[in-house]
Parts: sequence; C-alpha cells; structure tokens
Amino acid sequence: MQITFNNNKMKSKKTTIRILLFTVFLLTSSIGFSQKPGIVIIKAGKMLDTETGTMLNNIMIMVENEIIREVGTNIPIPSGAIIIDLSDATVLPGLIDCHTHITFQSGDNYYEMFRKSIVDYALLAPQYAKNTLEAGFTTVRDAGSKNFLDVALRNAINSNKIPGPRIQAAGYYISSTGGHGDLVGFSPMLGTREPEEMTGVADGVDAVRQKVRFNIKYGADVIKFGASAGVLSEEESVGAPQYTQEEMNAIVDEAKMWGRKAFAHAHGTEAIKMAVKAGVASVEHGSLIDDEGIALMKKNGVCLVADIYNDDYIVSEFIKMGYPETTIAKEKKVGLIQRQNFQKAVRAGVKIAFGTDAGVYPHGWNGNQFSFMVKWGMTPLQAIQAATINASDLLGWKEKVGSISVGKYADIIAVHGDPLNDVTILENVFFVMKGGKVFKNQK
Ligand code: ARG
Repeated sequence: MQITFNNNKMKSKKTTIRILLFTVFLLTSSIGFSQKPGIVIIKAGKMLDTETGTMLNNIMIMVENEIIREVGTNIPIPSGAIIIDLSDATVLPGLIDCHTHITFQSGDNYYEMFRKSIVDYALLAPQYAKNTLEAGFTTVRDAGSKNFLDVALRNAINSNKIPGPRIQAAGYYISSTGGHGDLVGFSPMLGTREPEEMTGVADGVDAVRQKVRFNIKYGADVIKFGASAGVLSEEESVGAPQYTQEEMNAIVDEAKMWGRKAFAHAHGTEAIKMAVKAGVASVEHGSLIDDEGIALMKKNGVCLVADIYNDDYIVSEFIKMGYPETTIAKEKKVGLIQRQNFQKAVRAGVKIAFGTDAGVYPHGWNGNQFSFMVKWGMTPLQAIQAATINASDLLGWKEKVGSISVGKYADIIAVHGDPLNDVTILENVFFVMKGGKVFKNQK
C-alpha cells in the first residue's frame, strides 16, 4: 500500500505510521495467525516426556506445519527453519482441562441470571478462550453450554478465526426437571428462561435419548449429564440422584450408538455408582464417593475428574456475588470431604484426569488446581500426567495430544524452572504453541 503526504507535518506522521505498521508486523508475525507454515525447531533446555514420566535434557523438537515430526538430542536443522530457543526453560505438552465452562464465567448472581442474553455470553466467550489458551491449556473438554455456544466457539477456533484451545463440546447439559442443569428455586410464575426445546432438560428414557440426539445433531462431540444434584443450583441436596438407573443407561447407550463418550456430574455416593454402572467415561466432582464407588471406578477404568480448587474460590467470592447462603452452606458440606475423598481415590489407584470447572472461577486460572492435586495425594508428575496423557486418553485423543511425540499436534508450552520440584510453576506459562503456531512468548 502506498500512502503519499506532501508537507513536513505529514512526513513525521508518515514516519509514525511506518513505525506503527512495523510494530504491528512484528507483533503479529511472532504471535499466532500470520506465522508462515514451515519447519520450526524448538530447542528445549528440559523437556518432560509425559509418556515415560522422565525429564530429558537438551532436546530438539522439529515441527512441520501443525505436527511434531522429530524429537531428539541432535536433529539436523534444515535450511530456512525457524529456531525457537527455549534452552533456558522447561518444555511440556500443552495442558488439557477436561471440565470447563468456557462460554460462561461467574459474576454477580442476579445480573447473570436475569440481565444477560445469549449475545452477552457470545461476546465474552472468545476472551475466555484466549485466556485459557494463554494459560497453557491447549485443549479443553467443555462440560455444557447454552445455545450450542461451545460448538460455535469450537468451530471459530478450528477455522483459525479466533485464538483458543481445541474444544470438545458437550452442547446442553442433560438434566432432569428440577435438576442441577435446570433453573431451580424460582417462582413457577416465572416459567423457564428458554423454551423447553432449547434446554437440556429431559425426563424419561425416550426423552433423554432424544436430548442426546438433539445435542449431536447440532454438533456436540461428547455428552454430559447430571447424575446427581449439585452445589451452585438451588436444590436442597448436593448428592441425591437426579436420574433413574434406566435413564442414565439410556443416555450412555444412546451416546455410544452415535460414537460419543458420556460423562456425568455426580457428587453423591449412590449417583456416582449409578453413573459408573451406566458406563460413563468419567465421573465429575465425585465429592461423596465411598470405598465401593472407588473400587467400582477402578475396576471399570472410569476417570475421576475432581474440581478440587473450586471450594476456595466459592467460599471466598460467591457471597460477594450475591449467591444465596444455602448455596454456600452446600459448598461447605462438600468442599473438604471432596478433597479427602480425592486423596483416597488417588491412593486406591483410580485413574485421575485433570478438570477444574473453570468458569466457576476466572478462565486462565486453570493451572491453580495443580498444587491442590499435589497437596491432596498426587506427585507433581502424576498431576501433570492427569492434565496430559490421562486427559488425552479420556477425550479419546491419545493419538493427537497429551505428549510431545512424533505425529501428534505441536501443542507445546514452556515454563521457567522445574514443575516437578514446584508444580505452582505451571500457573505461569510464558510460551504457548498450538498446532505449530505461537500464541504467546513472553520470556
Ligand atoms: N459445578 C459444581 C456444582 O455446582 C461446582 C462444585 C464446586 N464445589 C466443589 N467442592 N467442587 O455442583
């Protein structure tokens, strides 16, 4: 583009514009979208091999377009390759959060309930996606969203329109009438906020099967349902089952028929067992699990995805946001016991996948949960593996993500220091590459 100016004032403006354009070029060329495809060599001072659990020194990673082509100590550098020098850092595979609500973030309860439309949510979701990605989470499984906003967000990210993590979207959370996924606690004169057909509310075997089909029809990758009551909804109980065994069986069976995994929100002792018997891939929260539930999960290879950071945030912030005392009381009932039971499950050898329920607290804080997982029974390596290889396995994406291995997506992050010594280091990820593109590099 040629711009001409004809006086001195204009000349200095012209220089300013050039500097500005150059700055914009520099910024965009190092971050994300405008990066040319080709060969990139990452020089890693340390690299965590999440498959074997070993920390390797002085590793080179060759990335071609979006895929990892070679990993080794001495890769010949092809001419024209871009070198990314992370020789003073620790490099890990992109992290995976198996339980987010990426289209929502908690705020003033009244405002969130009554003032917002789907447009408000849609405007903010890209920011949440960006925050998540920049925190080093290159993949998430989203555990429920309104109006298929998670599907739309996934599609926009996949077509490179906006930055964000890879998303497995659940669409609507399938819930019984009056259940955790319904709007509870209000006058029947208010009716429901959305027309029934644009909610995840369904009762009875045929209706829940129809909801699974409805979700899949509009783009869901995975099916989420509420096996028990919950905390941040106004039912009395936290743990009572909210579907019959037959309904849970029908949801999981229907999902399988369409090639989808199903996962269940379940705090309650019985509800956890019912969900496992129905064949879910993972149990979310798992707060009141007992020994029998632990044994059943272990036997069936079902993952526990426990949001054990959440309690701190809810107890400190949710009263200020205007949530009812009864909700906070419910949180206080399960917060500590959830952590204790998580520790029991870890010790018993239940497979753990990392999942935070981000959206209850701000997106981008996902990494805060690592230190809680370590405090409650895991080694730093186990916690990291929960957020990489275990998570990729749960998502059915073992061949794509979860380790820095040949043939997988080049989803690569870097931190200063050794997260195996201090896992809180993962709260400060300074480098993020997703699919071979650099989205953050703040050395
Ligand atoms: N979405 C969950 C629910 O409302 C959040 C539970 C948070 N509390 C906890 N201790 N993990 O049930």
